[in-house]
Amino acid sequence: MNNEISPEIKLQLKAVVGASHFFEDTETTSHYGHDETEDLLFPPQIVLKPADSFQISEIVKIAFQNNIPVIPIGGRTGLSGGALSIFGGIAIAMERLNSILEIDEKNLQVIVEPGVITQTLQDTLLEKNLFYPVDPSSRGSCFIGGNVAENSGGARAVKYGVTKDYVLNLEVVLPNGEIIWTGANTLKNSTGYNLTALMVGSEGTLGIVTKIVLKLLPKHYHEVLMLVPFFNAKEACEAVSRIFRAGIIPSALEFMERDAIDWTLQYVEGVNLQIKDEVQAHLLIEVDGNFSDILFAEAEKIATVLEDFNIDEILFADTDDQKNALWKLRRAVGEAVKANSIYKEEDTVVPRYALPTLLEGIKKIGKKYGFKSVCYGHAGDGNLHVNIIKGKMSNDDWQTEIPKGIREIFELTVALKGTLSGEHGIGFVQKNFMDIAFNKVQLQLLKGIKELFDPKNIMNPGKVLPDNF
Ligand code: LAC
Ligand code: ZN
Repeated sequence: MNNEISPEIKLQLKAVVGASHFFEDTETTSHYGHDETEDLLFPPQIVLKPADSFQISEIVKIAFQNNIPVIPIGGRTGLSGGALSIFGGIAIAMERLNSILEIDEKNLQVIVEPGVITQTLQDTLLEKNLFYPVDPSSRGSCFIGGNVAENSGGARAVKYGVTKDYVLNLEVVLPNGEIIWTGANTLKNSTGYNLTALMVGSEGTLGIVTKIVLKLLPKHYHEVLMLVPFFNAKEACEAVSRIFRAGIIPSALEFMERDAIDWTLQYVEGVNLQIKDEVQAHLLIEVDGNFSDILFAEAEKIATVLEDFNIDEILFADTDDQKNALWKLRRAVGEAVKANSIYKEEDTVVPRYALPTLLEGIKKIGKKYGFKSVCYGHAGDGNLHVNIIKGKMSNDDWQTEIPKGIREIFELTVALKGTLSGEHGIGFVQKNFMDIAFNKVQLQLLKGIKELFDPKNIMNPGKVLPDNF
């Protein structure tokens, strides 16, 4: 790999995107040098803002010829460092590819460019009574292309699935500059290897997604939301599996430890909750559908299941304002924790019945290595975000002890038949734990795929695959 970008190459790149979309000033390169992952900063040498897949293809051809790293960059809300320019190189900011190209109401599909903000897409579709359910907390600023790159999930995945469940077909610029489509615009497809599925979640390491065909659902009309305080955090996790076994699939089933909710209440404005001192955790539970009486009956049934647990009074959010306030609170947990302390975030996921064991194990590991953790996340998916808080820990301990603790947390998730990341990706910060989830044979297959697509290792290098392999 070469990160020398000569004046001649710069001229070629300028000719592709136009001088006004070529940047090499420090302010711009620093801006694109970080995402939401810890305090990491890896600026590219050049930032380009191309207009379309043809320009991207031309840029990638130049990078390919000259062995220069290329890093596709979306909304920079990632939590595993997927958009960091680890080896410098050319960052391709996707923000000008921001059109919703076609809403196909007859087939319930949309063709969208990767730079569209996820919430903009959702809101535009809702106006046409169409529903794109994948709902990451960062929906107000993340890009749909980043969601595809990371296979994002979010709170509604428990009922509706994750990004991969909606992607039908992708236009991709390959690392040699060729442009392909990965599949077909059909709901079913058993034609050969599934290139679309391979591309979703590949974190920009196999190519750059430039058009996305998504499957949609009809919009639903009602939601019932309830916040349930638990006096014991482990019991909150135990209750999760019981709700499904009672025959109900909630549209969200979120867990927040006490610190997560307290810190977020201090962080966001306009949300007030009275929480008893003894409460250790909350479940935020939503059911959705078209008939409110059915939803109230389902909420009642959930409440009956929860009577077996040690809970305080359930808060039913009756008005849209109350519902919005609770969701605002939940969405802001990540930011609130980040604002509170230096931290590392792990995105553990286990089969949901193992969630209580995971939570208990994480706390034990925390005691052993001397760290506090704040846990929250998508309990219905068995997906627990573990925020390891630096607090007053010394820099030495933070550097040496924490990676050992993280390794143990991941070993525990894998022992529980889970894995390293549910929805944030492996990116830069988790790659050296990949040996816990994959043995040598499996890693060799992953490496073979990378080499087949990207023989010169220029496409978002330094991500996903471990360093010493
Ligand atoms: C959330 C993000 C951090 O669940 O995944 O809020
Ligand atoms: Zn999440």
